[in-house]
Amino acid sequence: MKLLWILSLLLSSIFLCMSFCSSLSSDGLSLLALKSAVDNDPTRVMTHWSESDRTPCHWSGIVCTNGRVTSLTLFGKSLSGYIPSELGLLDSLIRLDLAHNNFSKTVPVRLFQATKLRYIDLSHNSLSGPISAQIKSMKSLNHLDFSSNRLNGSLPESLTELGSLVGTLNLSYNRFTGEIPPSYGRFTVHISLDLGYNNLTGKIPQVGSLLNKGPIVFAGNSHLCGFPLQTPCEEEIKIPNLVISKPESTQELQKPNPSVISNDDGKEKKQITGSVTVSLLSGVSVVIGAVSLSVWLLRRKRSSDGFKTETKTTAVASEFDEEGQEGKFVAFDEGFELELEDLLRASAYVIGKSRSGIVYRVVADESSSTVVAVRRLSDGNATWRFKDFENQVETIGRINHPNIVRLRAYYYAEDEKLLITDFITNGSLYSALHGGPSNTRPLLSWAERLRIAQGTAGGLMYIHEYSSRKYVHGNLKSSKILLDDELQPHISGVGLTRLVSGYPKLTDHSLSTNTQNIDQAFATRLSAPAAAAYLAPEARASSGCKSSQKCDVYSFGVILLELLTGRLPNGSSENEGEELVNVLRKWHKEEGSLAEILDTKLLKQDFANKQVIETIHVALNCTEMDPEMRPRMRSVSESLGRMKSE
Ligand SMILES: *[C@@H]1O[C@H](CO)[C@@H](O)[C@H](O)[C@H]1NC(C)=O
Ligand SMILES: *[C@@H]1O[C@H](CO)[C@@H](O)[C@H](O)[C@H]1NC(C)=O
Ligand SMILES: *[C@@H]1O[C@H](CO)[C@@H](O)[C@H](O)[C@H]1NC(C)=O
Ligand SMILES: *[C@@H]1O[C@H](CO)[C@@H](O)[C@H](O)[C@H]1NC(C)=O
Repeated sequence: MKLLWILSLLLSSIFLCMSFCSSLSSDGLSLLALKSAVDNDPTRVMTHWSESDRTPCHWSGIVCTNGRVTSLTLFGKSLSGYIPSELGLLDSLIRLDLAHNNFSKTVPVRLFQATKLRYIDLSHNSLSGPISAQIKSMKSLNHLDFSSNRLNGSLPESLTELGSLVGTLNLSYNRFTGEIPPSYGRFTVHISLDLGYNNLTGKIPQVGSLLNKGPIVFAGNSHLCGFPLQTPCEEEIKIPNLVISKPESTQELQKPNPSVISNDDGKEKKQITGSVTVSLLSGVSVVIGAVSLSVWLLRRKRSSDGFKTETKTTAVASEFDEEGQEGKFVAFDEGFELELEDLLRASAYVIGKSRSGIVYRVVADESSSTVVAVRRLSDGNATWRFKDFENQVETIGRINHPNIVRLRAYYYAEDEKLLITDFITNGSLYSALHGGPSNTRPLLSWAERLRIAQGTAGGLMYIHEYSSRKYVHGNLKSSKILLDDELQPHISGVGLTRLVSGYPKLTDHSLSTNTQNIDQAFATRLSAPAAAAYLAPEARASSGCKSSQKCDVYSFGVILLELLTGRLPNGSSENEGEELVNVLRKWHKEEGSLAEILDTKLLKQDFANKQVIETIHVALNCTEMDPEMRPRMRSVSESLGRMKSE
């Protein structure tokens, strides 16, 4: 009896010891929980995972740092079973890779307690069920791949709270349903996102970084619609002739674009009985015969003083009366409230002019302060049939990116074509950097310059990648980059080239000779010499970037140099007659100091030395003479994006 009692005491203490006196570390015990959750281990990878070991650190698939498990990799071992909650106790775990196995059941909520995890790959398994919102506690997560499973439910919105999730988010090939949360637009542009091949529905939110994504990100969701997919949403179908379906329009964004929108000078302009003081790109203030667009349009036919015209066709106003017969006004989205009548009634101020035509700032409704920029395409031997024109413009209208000036509406009549875009308030990067008498803005700091570079790179990358057609801007320069009140950049003049290439050159008889002289002076002072300096060497002979994205990359590199040095890109006196690109190359070869080359205004401020040097290298790469050596905009944008502006 007594013996039996002693024996049972002995036995129970052995059992106790097996669970409490085990010499195996707690990380090892968590891993054993995984071993016992696996019901089939054909490659016997876990056979030597033994509870009699002191630590799991020499087990296959395990990496330790300072005695704690930091990596668990059992990739492609044909394991089946489930993922136990105990893995969440591995609180030093950084990397978890169980991809290409056959784990089933759900992803345990408690896994998300392993908050050090930076890398999770559970792709190519048979995991099912929803992803818990608790995933938001994984504050270090950078790479998350749940692709090729059977996960269902809605897309986990709490992922957007993870600031570190900037590497990969792959949820493709699952069974997720519902709409894409608009908050997904908050993911950084640089994340490699994949939502393809699920059963998502509704309209792709046209917000934030989602605008930067190509169609592949959303492919294979048959009930998803809207840009960048080719399936229009119900309410969008009424936009006529979606360009994407027109094979003949492949060239539309590929010609150089000689236009300049200069939304210079957001300040109030003084109106002096039909004249207005306007600051042009150069910063030179000149008085231009100001035109009220309505007056101008209405009087066009009659020859009143200063408005002589040689066109013979009917005036726009009457065309408008017959609505749609000859003239046509089309707004791209419902949010755009102005109508042609509003524009006709509004006061318009000339803010810029180039070969493609004159740009007006139009204050359509003083009370609601609706301001737009209206570009009157120069007439000439208009070769456009309405359909072609419409196709071109519709393509531009589909471009929707926070760093690209948005086309809102257009007006087409045989002898009159207007493009209505957002008005960007704060002038161009050109005038912000090189100033002028009217430029009273505080100097751009390094952080601001970097942000402008990053935004511009993002916009340009969007143009390059948003379709397989290899679109180019073709005429990028600092005067094309407009700044808003927050100094965010907006690329203007996208896709216009083809619209004006039918017009040989501006022969504008409708404005006074005075204006014309100023415009010519303006064109010579700025556009002509400066423009060449933005052109890649291979494009100079033909004076246009035509169809090469590498040419845009070169232009972008020149703009970076402009941001860095504050100098003009052409052979001006500050460059001792050399082009800025050559000045930089020489400086780089001779290993000059930053002080020699950096904008003196920057030298007086705080600037991030390392970022400046990295940016110089990006710029030098972009401006390689050999187009093949230049990086793609995506990698340029990524290089710049990695630099955090403080
Ligand atoms: C994976 O596991 C499921 C059961 O959970 C089974 O039906 C399926 O055949 C397995 N697949 C492979 C490739 O082993
Ligand atoms: C996401 O995963 C799928 C398959 O698992 C793969 O085909 C796809 O390329 C991945 N997407 C990205 C962006 O890496
Ligand atoms: C997810 O799939 C499981 C079966 O695998 C099903 O029971 C559950 O209802 C599904 N949940 C949703 C939200 O579709
Ligand atoms: C996807 O969702 C739609 C609508 O929600 C539904 O009609 C369809 O059956 C689903 N398809 C699959 C494969 O689950």
